Amino acid sequence: MDRRQMENTIAGIVRLLGTSLKNRGLYPPSHPLVRTPIEKCCAELDTLFSDRAELALTVADETLVLEGVPIFHLTSSLELFLARLGSIGVPAVIFERGLASEDLERFVLFLHETKEQGLAVDAIKDRLARAGVRHIRVTASDEERDDFEAARRVYGNAIDVVVQALSDVRNGKVPDGASCDHTVRDMNGMLLRNRDAMIALTLIKNFDEYTYNHSVNVSILSLAVADTLGLPEQDRINVGVAGLLHDVGKTQLALDLIRKPGTLTVAEYEEIKKHPEEGFAILGKMTNIEPETRKIVREHHMRFDGAGYPALQPGVRPNPHSQVIAVADCYDALTSMRSYQMARTPQGAMEIMRKLAGKALDPDLVLLLERSLGAYPVGTLLRLSTMEVGIVTSVPGQGKGYPGISVLYDRAGNPLAAPETVDLSESDPVTGKVRRAVIGTVNPMFLPPVPLESVLAHASA
Ligand SMILES: [Fe+2]
Ligand SMILES: [Fe+2]
Repeated sequence: MDRRQMENTIAGIVRLLGTSLKNRGLYPPSHPLVRTPIEKCCAELDTLFSDRAELALTVADETLVLEGVPIFHLTSSLELFLARLGSIGVPAVIFERGLASEDLERFVLFLHETKEQGLAVDAIKDRLARAGVRHIRVTASDEERDDFEAARRVYGNAIDVVVQALSDVRNGKVPDGASCDHTVRDMNGMLLRNRDAMIALTLIKNFDEYTYNHSVNVSILSLAVADTLGLPEQDRINVGVAGLLHDVGKTQLALDLIRKPGTLTVAEYEEIKKHPEEGFAILGKMTNIEPETRKIVREHHMRFDGAGYPALQPGVRPNPHSQVIAVADCYDALTSMRSYQMARTPQGAMEIMRKLAGKALDPDLVLLLERSLGAYPVGTLLRLSTMEVGIVTSVPGQGKGYPGISVLYDRAGNPLAAPETVDLSESDPVTGKVRRAVIGTVNPMFLPPVPLESVLAHASA
């Protein structure tokens, strides 16, 4: 779809919403003049959701702006729509992929019935939630400015949930399944809103808290793969919760065994192999856990070629999503530094995983993970043709264009006082050649440390 078609589609969507709203005042909700525009609108939105996860509609300077496209040709129905948003006090509405016509219907009903003016954003959010409106988010326009900040908050909450769940298991208590479900839904939403910001956080590892970071990272990476796979929402959530809790059975193992450097003895390995079954048992006691989630946890060490552990009962087929966790688990383990291994770069990890494809790992999912992360995932350090080293701060959309790069080190490897954003498409006006090209990746271990977190935050602001 080119820009012009996109603008027309977008204008059409808002017009349809306005028409439905106008007719809502004249006819009962089931009337075709109310329902048909909603259904058409839903179908139009679906075409846009084929290559984006959400659409933002803002009201700026009394103009409706959808995905950055101002809509100036106001029809009377559009005007009514704008007036309703304005008088209720809705600054920005975000339509998310997965939206159903009932959600739009309830949203239009909310716009139609709400008589108060200038409601606070939190009050609007509350009412929409109570009205059962899903996949439509209302935000204060400044609230969404710093996605990295929001992603970090979501990530931090997920860590808290894992810390609590693991400590509950250690203390003989049953962890709270509802808070796991909730935090995974938040991560899923944040991932749809800004995948780069969320994926960037998975690369910020903290050695002391490997298990906690690892659990949250596997959840995020599994959600990203599940989204690229196009799984329905509940399946994505199941995969995400399974990722969060996949190693919960390890809490039953002695700490020094989990952290042991070097090779394990046969007896120790037999101990480790119990953790998927232990996890399956723990999830069985928890509330708000889908049977599928439990099954995936049990099967996360089963290999694509049928080997692995625990051995599958004869005649039982593994859940097709168990391999999503296996792939995410492998990637995060390879890119993390643990007592017995050096961390690998995302490319180094992918190289190893490509060798495991078809044996331990599902080859399609390995490819899909690669596609979810991009050729140079956010957080990757790149050597440029100028010999400078930069970090990837954003990945190009749809596999086209250039990644966003901030240069962190000069050609001698010294950290710059402040990161410098560069444009890879820029060419030298004299020679006509590109100024900077990517010549390879760099392992962060070989460079003086820089505060990656603040660099990424700075770049996404
Ligand atoms: Fe595991
Ligand atoms: Fe794991």
